Amino acid sequence: MGKKVLAVFYTQSGQLASIIDHFTRPLSDAGVSVEKVQVSPGTAYPFPWSGKSFFAVMPDSVNQVPGPLEPFSFKEASYDLIILGYQAWFLSPSIPANSLMNDPGFKAIAKNCPVITVTGARNMWISAMEKVKPVLKKSGAKLVGNIALVDRHANFVSFVTILYWMFTGKKDRYLNIFPVPGVSEEDIKNTGAFGEIVIPYLQNNNWQGLQEELVDAGAVRISYPLMFIESKARKIFKVWAGIISKRKKRTAWLVAFKYYLLIALFIAAPIILTVDAIFFKPFLSGRIKRQKQYYSGVN
Ligand SMILES: Cc1cc2nc3c(=O)[nH]c(=O)nc-3n(C[C@H](O)[C@H](O)[C@H](O)COP(=O)(O)O)c2cc1C
Repeated sequence: MGKKVLAVFYTQSGQLASIIDHFTRPLSDAGVSVEKVQVSPGTAYPFPWSGKSFFAVMPDSVNQVPGPLEPFSFKEASYDLIILGYQAWFLSPSIPANSLMNDPGFKAIAKNCPVITVTGARNMWISAMEKVKPVLKKSGAKLVGNIALVDRHANFVSFVTILYWMFTGKKDRYLNIFPVPGVSEEDIKNTGAFGEIVIPYLQNNNWQGLQEELVDAGAVRISYPLMFIESKARKIFKVWAGIISKRKKRTAWLVAFKYYLLIALFIAAPIILTVDAIFFKPFLSGRIKRQKQYYSGVN
Protein backbone atom coordinates (compact mmCIF):
# COMPACT_ATOMS: atom_id res chain seq x y z
CA MET A 1 0.00 0.00 0.00
CA GLY A 2 3.07 2.23 0.40
CA LYS A 3 1.76 3.91 3.53
CA LYS A 4 3.97 4.54 6.55
CA VAL A 5 2.64 4.14 10.06
CA LEU A 6 4.41 4.81 13.35
CA ALA A 7 3.21 3.05 16.50
CA VAL A 8 4.81 4.59 19.56
CA PHE A 9 4.09 3.69 23.17
CA TYR A 10 5.34 2.89 26.64
CA THR A 11 4.42 -0.24 28.54
CA GLN A 12 5.40 -1.78 31.84
CA SER A 13 3.86 -5.22 31.78
CA GLY A 14 3.80 -5.60 28.00
CA GLN A 15 -0.02 -5.33 27.89
CA LEU A 16 -0.02 -2.21 25.72
CA ALA A 17 2.66 -3.70 23.43
CA SER A 18 0.43 -6.72 22.90
CA ILE A 19 -2.57 -4.49 22.14
CA ILE A 20 -0.50 -2.49 19.63
CA ASP A 21 0.78 -5.73 18.04
CA HIS A 22 -2.74 -7.07 17.47
CA PHE A 23 -4.08 -3.71 16.32
CA THR A 24 -1.32 -3.17 13.74
CA ARG A 25 -1.12 -6.73 12.41
CA PRO A 26 -3.85 -6.26 9.74
CA LEU A 27 -2.08 -3.10 8.59
CA SER A 28 1.24 -4.94 8.16
CA ASP A 29 -0.60 -7.79 6.42
CA ALA A 30 -2.05 -5.24 3.99
CA GLY A 31 1.47 -4.10 3.07
CA VAL A 32 1.61 -1.00 5.26
CA SER A 33 5.04 -0.27 6.73
CA VAL A 34 4.51 -0.25 10.50
CA GLU A 35 7.39 1.02 12.62
CA LYS A 36 7.01 0.26 16.33
CA VAL A 37 8.90 2.30 18.88
CA GLN A 38 8.70 1.50 22.58
CA VAL A 39 9.97 4.36 24.72
CA SER A 40 11.53 4.04 28.18
CA PRO A 41 11.77 6.64 30.92
CA GLY A 42 15.26 7.91 31.88
CA THR A 43 14.80 6.28 35.27
CA ALA A 44 12.67 3.17 35.01
CA TYR A 45 9.52 2.99 37.10
CA PRO A 46 9.48 -0.16 39.20
CA PHE A 47 7.43 -3.13 38.05
CA PRO A 48 6.19 -4.70 40.21
CA TRP A 49 5.56 -1.59 42.24
CA SER A 50 5.86 -1.15 45.99
CA GLY A 51 2.93 0.54 47.70
CA LYS A 52 5.09 3.59 48.30
CA SER A 53 6.44 3.95 44.75
CA PHE A 54 2.96 3.43 43.27
CA PHE A 55 1.32 6.31 45.13
CA ALA A 56 4.44 8.48 44.83
CA VAL A 57 3.80 8.97 41.09
CA MET A 58 0.34 10.43 41.71
CA PRO A 59 1.25 14.16 41.96
CA ASP A 60 3.44 14.24 38.82
CA SER A 61 0.95 12.12 36.86
CA VAL A 62 -1.96 14.39 37.74
CA ASN A 63 0.07 17.60 37.27
CA GLN A 64 1.38 16.24 33.97
CA VAL A 65 5.04 16.82 34.82
CA PRO A 66 7.10 15.32 31.99
CA GLY A 67 10.34 13.48 32.77
CA PRO A 68 13.37 12.48 30.68
CA LEU A 69 13.14 9.53 28.30
CA GLU A 70 15.91 7.24 27.07
CA PRO A 71 17.03 8.49 23.64
CA PHE A 72 14.88 7.15 20.81
CA SER A 73 14.53 7.93 17.12
CA PHE A 74 12.14 7.46 14.23
CA LYS A 75 13.26 6.08 10.86
CA GLU A 76 11.12 8.35 8.71
CA ALA A 77 10.85 12.12 8.52
CA SER A 78 7.05 11.89 8.33
CA TYR A 79 4.27 9.29 8.59
CA ASP A 80 0.79 8.83 7.14
CA LEU A 81 -0.53 7.87 10.57
CA ILE A 82 0.74 7.78 14.16
CA ILE A 83 -0.67 5.25 16.59
CA LEU A 84 -0.03 6.57 20.07
CA GLY A 85 -0.32 4.05 22.89
CA TYR A 86 -0.76 5.49 26.36
CA GLN A 87 -1.98 4.24 29.71
CA ALA A 88 -3.83 6.08 32.47
CA TRP A 89 -2.08 6.68 35.76
CA PHE A 90 -4.29 8.33 38.37
CA LEU A 91 -6.83 9.50 35.79
CA SER A 92 -4.07 11.16 33.76
CA PRO A 93 -1.74 10.05 30.97
CA SER A 94 1.11 8.03 32.55
CA ILE A 95 4.26 10.07 33.18
CA PRO A 96 6.18 8.26 30.39
CA ALA A 97 3.28 8.76 27.94
CA ASN A 98 3.03 12.43 28.87
CA SER A 99 6.81 12.77 28.52
CA LEU A 100 6.57 11.21 25.06
CA MET A 101 3.84 13.61 23.95
CA ASN A 102 5.98 16.53 25.12
CA ASP A 103 9.19 15.25 23.51
CA PRO A 104 10.42 17.64 20.78
CA GLY A 105 11.11 14.72 18.39
CA PHE A 106 7.59 13.38 18.84
CA LYS A 107 6.02 16.80 18.54
CA ALA A 108 7.87 17.45 15.28
CA ILE A 109 6.69 14.20 13.75
CA ALA A 110 3.13 14.59 15.08
CA LYS A 111 2.64 18.01 13.50
CA ASN A 112 -0.13 17.82 10.86
CA CYS A 113 -0.15 14.01 11.18
CA PRO A 114 -3.31 11.96 11.82
CA VAL A 115 -3.13 10.25 15.23
CA ILE A 116 -5.07 7.31 16.63
CA THR A 117 -4.77 6.93 20.39
CA VAL A 118 -4.91 3.47 21.94
CA THR A 119 -5.17 2.82 25.65
CA GLY A 120 -5.13 -0.28 27.82
CA ALA A 121 -6.50 0.91 31.15
CA ARG A 122 -8.18 -0.58 34.20
CA ASN A 123 -11.48 1.14 33.46
CA MET A 124 -11.05 4.87 34.01
CA TRP A 125 -9.39 6.46 30.99
CA ILE A 126 -11.80 9.31 30.11
CA SER A 127 -10.06 12.01 32.14
CA ALA A 128 -6.65 10.89 30.88
CA MET A 129 -7.91 11.13 27.31
CA GLU A 130 -9.26 14.62 28.01
CA LYS A 131 -5.70 15.54 29.03
CA VAL A 132 -4.17 13.86 25.98
CA LYS A 133 -6.37 15.81 23.54
CA PRO A 134 -5.01 19.35 24.24
CA VAL A 135 -1.40 18.15 24.33
CA LEU A 136 -1.77 16.61 20.87
CA LYS A 137 -3.63 19.64 19.62
CA LYS A 138 -0.82 21.92 20.77
CA SER A 139 1.62 19.91 18.61
CA GLY A 140 -0.64 20.35 15.62
CA ALA A 141 -1.50 16.64 15.50
CA LYS A 142 -4.92 15.63 14.11
CA LEU A 143 -6.70 13.22 16.42
CA VAL A 144 -8.72 10.95 14.11
CA GLY A 145 -9.43 7.89 16.24
CA ASN A 146 -9.45 6.55 19.77
CA ILE A 147 -9.55 2.99 21.05
CA ALA A 148 -9.98 2.35 24.75
CA LEU A 149 -9.57 -1.17 26.09
CA VAL A 150 -10.45 -1.82 29.71
CA ASP A 151 -10.82 -4.55 32.28
CA ARG A 152 -14.55 -5.26 31.98
CA HIS A 153 -15.02 -6.79 35.43
CA ALA A 154 -16.88 -4.90 38.18
CA ASN A 155 -15.07 -1.79 39.40
CA PHE A 156 -14.15 -3.09 42.84
CA VAL A 157 -13.06 -6.46 41.41
CA SER A 158 -10.69 -4.84 38.89
CA PHE A 159 -9.42 -2.52 41.64
CA VAL A 160 -8.37 -5.52 43.74
CA THR A 161 -6.93 -7.48 40.83
CA ILE A 162 -4.97 -4.58 39.35
CA LEU A 163 -3.32 -3.87 42.68
CA TYR A 164 -2.43 -7.58 42.96
CA TRP A 165 -0.97 -7.43 39.42
CA MET A 166 0.88 -4.14 39.94
CA PHE A 167 2.33 -5.18 43.34
CA THR A 168 3.37 -8.72 42.36
CA GLY A 169 3.93 -8.41 38.60
CA LYS A 170 1.75 -11.52 38.15
CA LYS A 171 -1.11 -11.29 35.66
CA ASP A 172 -2.89 -14.31 37.07
CA ARG A 173 -5.86 -15.12 39.31
CA TYR A 174 -5.41 -13.67 42.80
CA LEU A 175 -6.14 -16.39 45.41
CA ASN A 176 -7.57 -18.45 42.56
CA ILE A 177 -10.84 -16.62 43.26
CA PHE A 178 -10.49 -13.35 41.39
CA PRO A 179 -10.39 -13.11 37.59
CA VAL A 180 -7.20 -12.43 35.62
CA PRO A 181 -6.37 -8.72 35.91
CA GLY A 182 -6.26 -6.19 33.10
CA VAL A 183 -7.67 -6.22 29.58
CA SER A 184 -8.82 -9.75 28.67
CA GLU A 185 -6.80 -11.77 26.16
CA GLU A 186 -9.92 -11.97 24.01
CA ASP A 187 -10.33 -8.19 23.88
CA ILE A 188 -6.61 -7.79 23.13
CA LYS A 189 -6.87 -10.26 20.23
CA ASN A 190 -10.02 -8.58 18.94
CA THR A 191 -8.15 -5.30 18.44
CA GLY A 192 -7.18 -6.75 15.07
CA ALA A 193 -10.74 -5.98 13.96
CA PHE A 194 -10.14 -2.29 14.71
CA GLY A 195 -6.96 -2.43 12.65
CA GLU A 196 -8.98 -3.80 9.71
CA ILE A 197 -11.38 -0.88 10.04
CA VAL A 198 -8.53 1.63 9.81
CA ILE A 199 -7.12 0.30 6.50
CA PRO A 200 -9.47 2.00 3.97
CA TYR A 201 -9.30 5.31 5.86
CA LEU A 202 -5.51 5.14 5.73
CA GLN A 203 -5.61 4.16 2.07
CA ASN A 204 -7.74 7.18 1.16
CA ASN A 205 -6.17 9.51 3.72
CA ASN A 206 -9.71 10.50 4.60
CA TRP A 207 -10.54 9.97 8.26
CA GLN A 208 -14.14 11.13 8.15
CA GLY A 209 -16.34 8.55 9.87
CA LEU A 210 -13.51 6.44 11.31
CA GLN A 211 -14.30 7.04 14.97
CA GLU A 212 -18.01 6.35 14.46
CA GLU A 213 -17.14 3.03 12.80
CA LEU A 214 -14.69 2.15 15.59
CA VAL A 215 -17.30 2.97 18.24
CA ASP A 216 -19.88 0.81 16.45
CA ALA A 217 -17.36 -2.03 16.52
CA GLY A 218 -16.92 -1.63 20.30
CA ALA A 219 -13.60 0.25 20.37
CA VAL A 220 -14.98 2.61 23.03
CA ARG A 221 -17.67 1.73 25.56
CA ILE A 222 -18.70 4.40 28.03
CA SER A 223 -20.13 3.19 31.33
CA TYR A 224 -22.27 5.78 33.08
CA PRO A 225 -21.25 4.92 36.69
CA LEU A 226 -17.54 4.99 35.79
CA MET A 227 -17.94 8.24 33.86
CA PHE A 228 -19.77 9.69 36.87
CA ILE A 229 -17.15 8.56 39.41
CA GLU A 230 -14.32 9.84 37.23
CA SER A 231 -15.91 13.26 36.82
CA LYS A 232 -15.92 13.66 40.61
CA ALA A 233 -12.58 11.95 41.27
CA ARG A 234 -10.54 13.97 38.75
CA LYS A 235 -11.35 17.22 40.56
CA ILE A 236 -10.46 15.74 43.94
CA PHE A 237 -7.23 14.18 42.59
CA LYS A 238 -6.22 17.62 41.32
CA VAL A 239 -6.62 19.09 44.80
CA TRP A 240 -4.59 16.26 46.41
CA ALA A 241 -1.87 16.55 43.73
CA GLY A 242 -1.70 20.33 44.24
CA ILE A 243 -1.30 19.96 48.01
CA ILE A 244 1.17 17.05 47.92
CA SER A 245 3.43 18.47 45.20
CA LYS A 246 4.12 21.51 47.40
CA ARG A 247 5.32 19.34 50.32
CA LYS A 248 8.97 18.47 50.85
CA LYS A 249 8.04 15.48 53.00
CA ARG A 250 5.33 13.68 51.09
CA THR A 251 5.14 10.24 52.71
CA ALA A 252 2.41 10.95 55.26
CA TRP A 253 0.34 12.83 52.66
CA LEU A 254 0.60 9.98 50.18
CA VAL A 255 -0.51 7.50 52.85
CA ALA A 256 -3.47 9.78 53.58
CA PHE A 257 -4.28 9.86 49.85
CA LYS A 258 -4.14 6.05 49.70
CA TYR A 259 -6.71 5.75 52.50
CA TYR A 260 -8.82 8.48 50.94
CA LEU A 261 -8.85 6.47 47.70
CA LEU A 262 -9.93 3.28 49.45
CA ILE A 263 -12.71 5.03 51.35
CA ALA A 264 -13.81 6.95 48.23
CA LEU A 265 -14.02 3.81 46.11
CA PHE A 266 -15.47 1.29 48.53
CA ILE A 267 -17.69 3.49 50.72
CA ALA A 268 -18.38 6.92 49.20
CA ALA A 269 -18.76 5.94 45.53
CA PRO A 270 -21.55 3.35 46.06
CA ILE A 271 -23.48 5.81 48.25
CA ILE A 272 -23.09 8.72 45.83
CA LEU A 273 -24.02 6.51 42.89
CA THR A 274 -27.16 5.30 44.66
CA VAL A 275 -28.23 8.86 45.52
CA ASP A 276 -27.54 9.90 41.92
CA ALA A 277 -29.47 6.94 40.51
CA ILE A 278 -32.57 7.88 42.56
CA PHE A 279 -32.58 11.67 42.52
CA PHE A 280 -30.61 12.88 39.49
CA LYS A 281 -29.90 10.34 36.78
CA PRO A 282 -33.56 9.77 35.77
CA PHE A 283 -33.92 13.48 34.93
CA LEU A 284 -30.64 13.87 33.08
CA SER A 285 -30.92 11.31 30.30
CA GLY A 286 -30.39 13.88 27.52
CA ARG A 287 -27.28 15.27 29.16
CA ILE A 288 -25.89 11.81 29.89
CA LYS A 289 -26.41 10.78 26.27
CA ARG A 290 -24.55 13.86 25.05
CA GLN A 291 -21.70 13.24 27.49
CA LYS A 292 -21.39 9.62 26.37
CA GLN A 293 -21.34 10.73 22.75
CA TYR A 294 -18.68 13.33 23.46
CA TYR A 295 -16.38 10.92 25.32
CA SER A 296 -16.81 8.31 22.59
CA GLY A 297 -15.64 10.81 20.00
CA VAL A 298 -12.37 12.53 19.22
CA ASN A 299 -13.36 16.20 19.27
C1 LIG B 1 0.49 4.14 39.00
C2 LIG B 1 -0.65 3.59 38.21
C3 LIG B 1 -1.86 4.26 38.21
C4 LIG B 1 -2.93 3.77 37.44
N1 LIG B 1 -4.10 4.51 37.38
C5 LIG B 1 -5.08 4.10 36.55
C6 LIG B 1 -6.25 4.91 36.37
O1 LIG B 1 -6.39 6.01 36.93
N2 LIG B 1 -7.24 4.46 35.56
C7 LIG B 1 -7.14 3.25 34.90
O2 LIG B 1 -8.07 2.87 34.21
N3 LIG B 1 -6.02 2.48 35.02
C8 LIG B 1 -4.99 2.88 35.81
N4 LIG B 1 -3.85 2.13 35.91
C9 LIG B 1 -3.69 0.94 35.03
C10 LIG B 1 -2.92 1.33 33.78
O3 LIG B 1 -3.66 2.25 33.01
C11 LIG B 1 -2.58 0.12 32.89
O4 LIG B 1 -3.74 -0.55 32.53
C12 LIG B 1 -1.68 -0.88 33.55
O5 LIG B 1 -0.68 -0.20 34.27
C13 LIG B 1 -1.01 -1.79 32.52
O6 LIG B 1 -0.32 -1.02 31.57
P1 LIG B 1 1.08 -1.38 30.91
O7 LIG B 1 0.80 -1.69 29.49
O8 LIG B 1 1.96 -0.18 31.09
O9 LIG B 1 1.63 -2.57 31.65
C14 LIG B 1 -2.78 2.57 36.70
C15 LIG B 1 -1.56 1.89 36.73
C16 LIG B 1 -0.51 2.39 37.46
C17 LIG B 1 0.80 1.66 37.44
